Amino acid sequence: MTSSEVWDEDTAIRYDASSAEMFGPEVLDPTVDFLADLAGSGAALEFAVGTGRVAIPLATRGVAVTGIELSEPMAAQLRQKVDETTLPVVMGDMATTRVPGEFDLVYLVFNTISNLRTQAEQVECFRNAARHLKPGGRFVIELWVPAIRRMPPGQSVVPMSMGENGHLVFDTYNLATQACTSHHYFHEADGTTRYGSGNFRYIWPAECDLMAQLAGLEFEARYADWHRAPFTSDSDSHISVWRKPATS
Ligand SMILES: C[S@@+](CC[C@H](N)C(=O)[O-])C[C@H]1O[C@@H](n2cnc3c(N)ncnc32)[C@H](O)[C@@H]1O
Repeated sequence: MTSSEVWDEDTAIRYDASSAEMFGPEVLDPTVDFLADLAGSGAALEFAVGTGRVAIPLATRGVAVTGIELSEPMAAQLRQKVDETTLPVVMGDMATTRVPGEFDLVYLVFNTISNLRTQAEQVECFRNAARHLKPGGRFVIELWVPAIRRMPPGQSVVPMSMGENGHLVFDTYNLATQACTSHHYFHEADGTTRYGSGNFRYIWPAECDLMAQLAGLEFEARYADWHRAPFTSDSDSHISVWRKPATS
């Protein structure tokens, strides 16, 4: 049993269009370059592979990629683009599902570790990554830094973005439980407004490092983006890399 919300068919059908900016070459090219570099000639496993946004171009680059995915409708969208031989997907929870084989790289992008909404499951997710790694293999996470600096005392709402298409996003935080809800308002072509929300457990970079330690992984690097820009106190997101010790 997972605390993750299971993404439904409507969300899956809309996913690629509603995340269009994440499919642009300015986002995907450096992401795939970074991951292909770490995978080398080895195999990669994507936790929460979704519709294959990253896995498909990575496989196209010659990396043998396998995915784990919880949502049948999301996996069905991926399957419309690529066959099982090119990109096998195992259905299940990324915190517990075991895929046969060992991998040089396990990666979990687009803030998705936060979809697990308990600390215990997030720790299990790190342990599951470590279980799948060869000695010397890497676990990579892309995760936002909680936007709590933007909140004055007593406030629990953070405006996040207002897209050109009128897509309005704001987040609400519960600082006591590390729970966060993202509220999305989409302005549709017919003039109506559609509301969608997602619930998360936010994590600080330091908490990730502790989870990695609990999983027997060693910290290797943290960057502000896929171009390896330095991570600073003003960074609003991070790419973190941990390594399974060569002898473990
Ligand atoms: C933001 S999407 C990311 C998809 C893809 N990795 C990408 O970058 O486009 C989040 C994905 O995580 C999946 N997911 C959420 N919780 C999960 C879990 N516990 N185990 C496996 N997949 C999960 C959702 O079904 C969804 O496909």
